[in-house]
Amino acid sequence: MLMQIDIAEHRYGSLLVLDNVQFSIASGEIVCVVGPSGCGKSTLLSILGGLVQPTNGSVSYSGQSQTDCLNDLTYVFQDFALLPWLTVRENIRFVLRHHALDPATCDRKIDDVLARTGLTSFAQAFPKQLSGGMKQRVGIARALVVRPQVLLMDEPFSALDAQTRELLTADFLDLWLREKITAVHITHNLAEALTLADRIIVLSRRPGRIKKIVEVTVPKAQRLTAEGQTELVALREELWSLIKDEAVLANQEVTA
Ligand SMILES: Nc1ncnc2c1ncn2[C@@H]1O[C@H](COP(=O)(O)OP(=O)(O)OP(=O)(O)O)[C@@H](O)[C@H]1O
Ligand SMILES: [Mg+2]
Repeated sequence: MLMQIDIAEHRYGSLLVLDNVQFSIASGEIVCVVGPSGCGKSTLLSILGGLVQPTNGSVSYSGQSQTDCLNDLTYVFQDFALLPWLTVRENIRFVLRHHALDPATCDRKIDDVLARTGLTSFAQAFPKQLSGGMKQRVGIARALVVRPQVLLMDEPFSALDAQTRELLTADFLDLWLREKITAVHITHNLAEALTLADRIIVLSRRPGRIKKIVEVTVPKAQRLTAEGQTELVALREELWSLIKDEAVLANQEVTA
């Protein structure tokens, strides 16, 4: 087990945001988290990354860092968060600046991650020259260059148009098939979750409680092929029935 999450509760002041959220993450697993707006998904990710301390609970981490791991946990942000005055290569180099690496090692790591994410020919481009999809590839490359144990992704594709989102989801699946990256991936998009997840954690509306953890047993290599579809369609219906009522109620609360 790589991470064990045991959050009895998390509050912001008097606002109860997460209630009794317990699950584990195994090495090589992609855990997706779905749930209505405001139910505490980003808070959960911040707790996993150590940015927020749960008011009552703990996150334990038992990974054995590989020798080339520079950072155990890294984030991929929804808005890419690239520095506009730096090229793709320099944006990636930027995250290595605090690590005592010689320039040749830095270059090797950057070349390696550019190749793994299909960005080699974009190395000298500036963010403004890239489409949204390519920008997020850079966001992923920047998170992967440190060889993290767990990648923390907060709706990484939700700022993209539907087709680009599908392409990036398929790319990320490919990357997983090659590298078996461990990731926690927050999304509103059930198709994305069903393409990528080993397990999908369905949270209730705020305070976020685990309604169900849905296992996706279709092998990842079959997620986008015809063979896997019958089972995935059935799972989609199950997921939608779990979140539909919560989403409706959450929306009523927001507009009330
Ligand atoms: N730093 C903070 N201080 C106070 N309240 C916060 C803080 N961060 C989040 N909240 C509140 O906690 C609740 C959960 O927020 P969070 O961002 O974790 O939800 P979310 O599930 O990620 O929502 P969305 O789907 O809109 O991204 C919301 O009501 C939000 O307003
Ligand atoms: Mg959020």
